[in-house]
Parts: sequence; structure tokens; C-alpha cells
Amino acid sequence: MLTSHGRFIFGGDWNPEQWDESVWERDIDMLKDAHINEATINVFSWAQLQPSLERYDFSVLDRIVSLLVSNDFNIILATSTAALPGWLVREYPDVLRMDADGVRHVFGGRHNFCPNSVVFRRLSSKLAGALAQRYSDVAGLRYWHVGNEYGGGGGMCYCPRCAERFRTWLRGKYGDLDSLNRAWCTHVWSHTIVDWADIVPPVTFGDGIGVEKAVISGLLLDYRRFQNQAQLDCFINERDAIRRFDRQTPITTNLMGTFKDLDYFSWGKQMDVVSWDNYPGMDTEPSYTAMCHDLMRSVGGGKPFLLMEQTPNQQNWFPYCAVKKPGEVRALSWQAVAHGADSVQFFQLRQSLGGCERFHGAVIGHDGTEKTRVFAETRRLGAELADIGAGISGSAVVSRVAIMFDWDSYWSLEGCVGPTQGFSYPREIHRFYKPLHAMNVSVDMIESTASLETMMKYSLVIAPTLIMVKAGVGERIGEYVSRGGRFVTGYMSGIHDENDLVIPGGYPGPLREVCGVWVEEMDALAPGTTVPVVFESGGKPRGGRIIADVMHLETAESLAAYAGDSFYSGTPAVSVNRHGDGFAYYVGTALDESGMNDVIVPILKDLGIPMIHTPEGVEVCRRWRGEGDCVEFLMNMTDREYAGDVRLAPYEVRVSPRREK
Ligand code: GLA
Ligand code: ZN
Repeated sequence: MLTSHGRFIFGGDWNPEQWDESVWERDIDMLKDAHINEATINVFSWAQLQPSLERYDFSVLDRIVSLLVSNDFNIILATSTAALPGWLVREYPDVLRMDADGVRHVFGGRHNFCPNSVVFRRLSSKLAGALAQRYSDVAGLRYWHVGNEYGGGGGMCYCPRCAERFRTWLRGKYGDLDSLNRAWCTHVWSHTIVDWADIVPPVTFGDGIGVEKAVISGLLLDYRRFQNQAQLDCFINERDAIRRFDRQTPITTNLMGTFKDLDYFSWGKQMDVVSWDNYPGMDTEPSYTAMCHDLMRSVGGGKPFLLMEQTPNQQNWFPYCAVKKPGEVRALSWQAVAHGADSVQFFQLRQSLGGCERFHGAVIGHDGTEKTRVFAETRRLGAELADIGAGISGSAVVSRVAIMFDWDSYWSLEGCVGPTQGFSYPREIHRFYKPLHAMNVSVDMIESTASLETMMKYSLVIAPTLIMVKAGVGERIGEYVSRGGRFVTGYMSGIHDENDLVIPGGYPGPLREVCGVWVEEMDALAPGTTVPVVFESGGKPRGGRIIADVMHLETAESLAAYAGDSFYSGTPAVSVNRHGDGFAYYVGTALDESGMNDVIVPILKDLGIPMIHTPEGVEVCRRWRGEGDCVEFLMNMTDREYAGDVRLAPYEVRVSPRREK
């Protein structure tokens, strides 16, 4: 029999310290009525928990916890360290982050600590430890939630202490200045480093071209790696403090999908379970959200993840915040579950009366009643999850296709000065993801440094804009293809080594042999313009955007050629190369949707991967409970009716168990 703590987690952030205690019990009654069984608490309470350096006061938290325990709630207990209390800032002003213009933050805001602050490290781990010591035996404690959205909002820290630590980090990495100067190509613009003390973070008034690009891109790249590690060390620091008092409760922190500043693959390795916050905007395509779920599942090693936050109605922080349409939140929730979530959680369970999040959607609104549409929809979803959620928990998403998502390439591609500023790395990943999604083919994300064994689990591996090819990666891809794998890559791939230096000898460098092409030039296309691309297989001309590689076939064959009036009209735009027992495809331009389908669909056909074509926003997913035993999710993520083999009303979702061979 399931205890209440074995239920599918349905709940979210509850911040009762923000309102009168007389309301708390009423909240709980209402939440229970909506089948809510979990509360994430204590996310931003540092100032109340520790009124001064010498004193903790857990009295309010004790009352919150005991109310939840007596109501048999699951608890996700946060460590409260993502916003600094006033006294801490007053006594140690340099605990705060400094931005790229050299401005030190002041008290206020959140996500604003310097990740290298010794004081922050000491006090945050002390608090996390004190919480673990006090609450680790609490009935219903399901997860620890460390900090909140690391890196969110604040950007990287550029303070003098970070600069000093960075120099030490670089000494450890490069050993001597000759190696560093070589790795960074510093003789450009007289940037030669003659003393370690001369190294400055890529600040706006120094080497930074804004904060996204720098004169010496190796410097920017190393700074990003260094800051990622510093933030991660803050998480590890609190995690380990909890572990001293609680040996078993899994520990997480909430990630943010394709967030740029943190290499989430490195984070996933340090977390017991991955959780993330899903906030699609008005114009986020459902396939983009699906991709984010797949990425989050994958950084957690493929295990189920937690949907730590989503809004039960509108957000407050977009410039224009539409309300969620009837059925939309339910559809978004099931989409998360279909892609591997083992929880559905909201920010937030009740709206506060003040502060900047008072107009953020909540299960209980300012009216304080159960009479709202949002409440009714939450209750309906809760009933459904209570009914079938537990039977889905723990089941697996199985994929035969993998996409390489590489944070170094993310930083390198968007950090490039030239040949175009038209690229957003996640958008390019999505360009290659979309035809798979349209065919309802499940996708895992892997690191570019994945082992050959990992790669061999997939029939198809795709590496969009893999601009940075680290040592050994090109060889492994070659081996994967020669053993029968299919590999797809293209424009802006195979250009840089791990230091962001061009690999000489012709693009795409280490991928040239396996792809059988030499890219001689990269033509940037003006925004909104396209170059026509004609596929050998026939059909209407497709459009290439952003960039057009002018390339030569070495051992490859052409699959499509440029048309139009450019000087490279008639030359190859897409190619395929037989390499050992497999094939490598090179896509020379950022193709429109039909063009991407023309590349990907024939490969899926060749591989015999089952395809079900549905328009954008209609999805079919499966989670596997065992051999031949799956749950199928049929979802219409749009506000339009879908009339295919089945008819789906706007935002309709059907979940059904299936037996399959
Ligand atoms: C983030 C934070 C929450 C809350 C929501 C609002 O995800 O983690 O504390 O501010 O945004 O959308
Ligand atoms: Zn700093």
C-alpha cells in the first residue's frame, strides 16, 4: 500500500512567512482539497532564520514544518541561501557580487553573492548544516533544495577576489605563462601576459566586448569555466554540510534549462537528482520546452527529474504576462511528466500581498478562495496525478537518437566576434531537434566528450554547431561512424580547440575526414534573407539562413545544392559521406524547417526508427516501466483543435498504458 509519502509529488513553493499565521491552516485545507501533497519551503528565509551572526531562530520554520508534518505533506526543504540578509551585507560588504562595470552590488535583490566569498561559503554551509541537524528526521522530508537558481539574474562576479582566485586557478591549469600565452593567443593587440598579476577578468572596460564577447576569447572562456566551478563549489559546499547530518535524503538545486552561464552537465554529476524550473514565454514553441525537458533529464544521467517550478497561471516577470488558457497548465504538466518528470510543482501555492511576485500566478490567489478557474484546474490535475502518477514514477524515457549539447561550444559560438552575430546556440540545437520532435522520435542529450560506449547506444548522433571539438572527440566520432553510426553535423562545427583557437588546416578540422568535406568560406546572410537550397531528392527549394558554408566535396556526395544568384550557386549545401560502416552528414547552412526535415527524415527511415508525424505542438511520448510495458502520452500543446488519426481538443492530453513488443 502507498503511504502518502509514496504519492506522486504534486505541490510547490509555499512561503507562509510572507503572510499572517492565521491563514496557514486554511491554506493547508485548500491545498489538500486540490490533492496537493508537497510543499517546498524555506527558499528565501535567511534573514528570519538568522537575525544576526550569532543567532539562529528556527521558531517560525518549526511551526511551518510541524503543520506540514501533521498534515502528512511531503516536504522539500530549501537552505535559504540564495538571498543575503542585511546584517551580512552590512558586516561584510564584499560578500556581494560585482558586475562587469566594476559596480559592487548593495543590499537587496537575490542571487547576488560572490561565489568565491569565504564568508558566504562559511555561513551558508553552517546554515545548511544547522538545518540538516534540526530537520533531517522530519517525517515526509523528501528532498533538500540547496540555494535557488544558481547564477540566475546576477551574472558572473568580477570582483577583485574573483580576479585573484582566477589567477591562482590559471596557474594551476597552465603552469607557466608561455603555455597561457599560447593557449590564449595573446600577442594579438599586445595582450602578452608578462606577469600573472596582469591578468584581469574580461570586464567591460578592459577585455570585454560587452559581457558576451572578448578580445581574447580564451580568457573569456576560462573565466566562464572558473565561475561555473565557483558556483558549483558553493552548491557542493552546502550539499556536503547537509550530508554530515543526513546521510540519505536526496539533494538537489533547481536548474534553468538552457541557461547559459552554468555547464549543467558538470552540475548533474554532483546532484542526487536534477530539478528544474520551466517558464515558457508567450512565444516559446512547445518543441523548445520539450527539448529543455530532455536536456534536464539528460544532465541528470537520464534518470527521472523533478519539475521544481512552473506557474499555475501567468508569470509576472515577462514584459507582458498572458494568463494560461484553460487546460494549458495541465498540458504543460503532462508534457514534463512525458519527458521524464517525477513531480509536478508550482511556483507558487499562494500569492503574497506584497513584493514583486504578488502578481505571479498561484494556486490560491488574492481572493483566497477555491472558486477560481486556476484552483479548479489544479484540483482536476491533482486528482489525475493522484490516480495514475505513482504508476508512472521511476519509469524511463528510451531514445535511439542523441544530440550533443556542449556548454563550451555554447560559450564559444556566442562569444565569437564574426562571422555573424546571428547565432543563439540553443536555437541551433532546437533547429536540429525540431524535425525529430515533429516525428515524435525521443531524443537524449549527451556531452560532446561522451565515451564511445555511450555513443554506440544511439543509432544517430547529431552535433549542431559543435564549434569546439576537444581532444579525442573527433577521433571518437570517426570511430563511432566507422562502426556503423550515423552522425550529423554542419556549419560552425569543428572550428575551435578547447582553448578557442582555430584548428588549422581547413574547416571542419577534426571532423573533416569523417564528413568528407572542406569548408573554404563561411558567408554570413543578412537578417531575414535566405539562400535557396535544392535537394537532389526533389521538392521545392528550401531556405538557408544566417550562414552559408562554401564547401568542397572531398569524399562526400552532395545531397543538396545552393541555388539563387550568389557565386556559390550550384555548389553543395548538404552532403553525406560513407565512412567505414556508417555515414556522416554535413549541413552547410541553417535550414528552414522543411529543409531540416529533408535532412533528418530519410536518415530515420533508413534506420527504421518509428515515426509518427504530428504538427508543432502535438506530441506523442512514452515512458517505459519494463520490457514491453509503457505509458503513452498524447498531447495537444496548442490552443487549436487537432484532427489527425485522433481528435484532440485544444490542450487535450490522453495518458494510457500500453503493451508493446
Ligand atoms: C524563479 C524562482 C522563484 C520565482 C519564480 C517566478 O524560478 O526560482 O523563486 O521567483 O522564478 O517565476
Ligand atoms: Zn567575486
